Amino acid sequence: MRTIDWVQGAIEIVDQTALPAKLTVRRIETLDGLIAAIQELAVRGAPALGVAGAMGVAQLALAGTDVAEVRAGAARLREARPTAVNLSWGVDRALRRLEAGAEAVLAEALAVRDEDLAACISMGRHGADYLRAVVPDRDIRLMTVCNTGGLAAVERGTALGVAQTIHEQGWLQEVVPLETRPLLQGARLTAWELQQMGAPFRLVVDSAGPFLLSRGAADAVLIGADRIAANGDTANKVGSFSLALAAKHAGVPFIVVAPESTVDMSTTSGADIEIEDRGAAEITSFGARITAPQGTETYNPAFDVTPRELITAIITDRRVIHLDRGQELNTTPLQPSRQ
Ligand code: MRU
Repeated sequence: MRTIDWVQGAIEIVDQTALPAKLTVRRIETLDGLIAAIQELAVRGAPALGVAGAMGVAQLALAGTDVAEVRAGAARLREARPTAVNLSWGVDRALRRLEAGAEAVLAEALAVRDEDLAACISMGRHGADYLRAVVPDRDIRLMTVCNTGGLAAVERGTALGVAQTIHEQGWLQEVVPLETRPLLQGARLTAWELQQMGAPFRLVVDSAGPFLLSRGAADAVLIGADRIAANGDTANKVGSFSLALAAKHAGVPFIVVAPESTVDMSTTSGADIEIEDRGAAEITSFGARITAPQGTETYNPAFDVTPRELITAIITDRRVIHLDRGQELNTTPLQPSRQ
């Protein structure tokens, strides 16, 4: 099942607020409905947000809205979440076809969807090939954070898509997903996806991740990305940076897996990436239960930035950028996508 798709004239998403209890589809027919779905994380993950952005613009154009209004709506959509560059990238790609008419905008949005499907297959293969060289002679153990599987894309996903490819090839020993406070994308979504694919895994609390790496519990850490700056600094779910520090300490490869659409050459370094703060409610309560005194002040950054020095390699649908060998994003030749 696709996480996001265009079905009979509207956007349909797997509603991720309901998982793992229920697998339900939410149909989205308005811009306000799409923005709400993005902000409450019913649809989430950088690649899926790119598709949502493009389809949102298509929906506006097809509704017969005049060009100025489509542009105003697209501006609101772009701002729905600030960190994942894919959202504004998807919106802008669709907007560029506006003068050619609504059907051309829809065709572009469907192309964004189809390219994501192909990119995820390609990242899975590149990632598996890369890791086979890292661990040539036995089954592999992978640590992940957040959800980077099919639920974060259209299908298959990025970092978890690599784990899926390795599982299909028969040499996955286990995945160690971090639960990923405060919204538990690792526990609710990654564990659910791993169960669906029949892959072995053991869920751990976030604070156990660095310690488990020091005890040799994983052969590599694989994360996704919300924005990769021109110098290789990478924004991803909060907790990624502490895993990267621990991986360096333990001598474990720390690998970023993301489509080319997540590379943002207009952002010079991680210091320039806006980090979404999701406010107090998510960390002063747990479900219906209040877990901090009323009036508690909080910081709740949804993402952090891992500096390039801590990243072994970035794997995209087109190339492997060996940051540990001093390769740069702008000088690494692009390989044709391997389908
Ligand atoms: O807040 P979320 O759930 O949208 O955060 C998602 C992540 O941090 C993912 O790791 C990232 O978008 C890459 S998804 C393949």
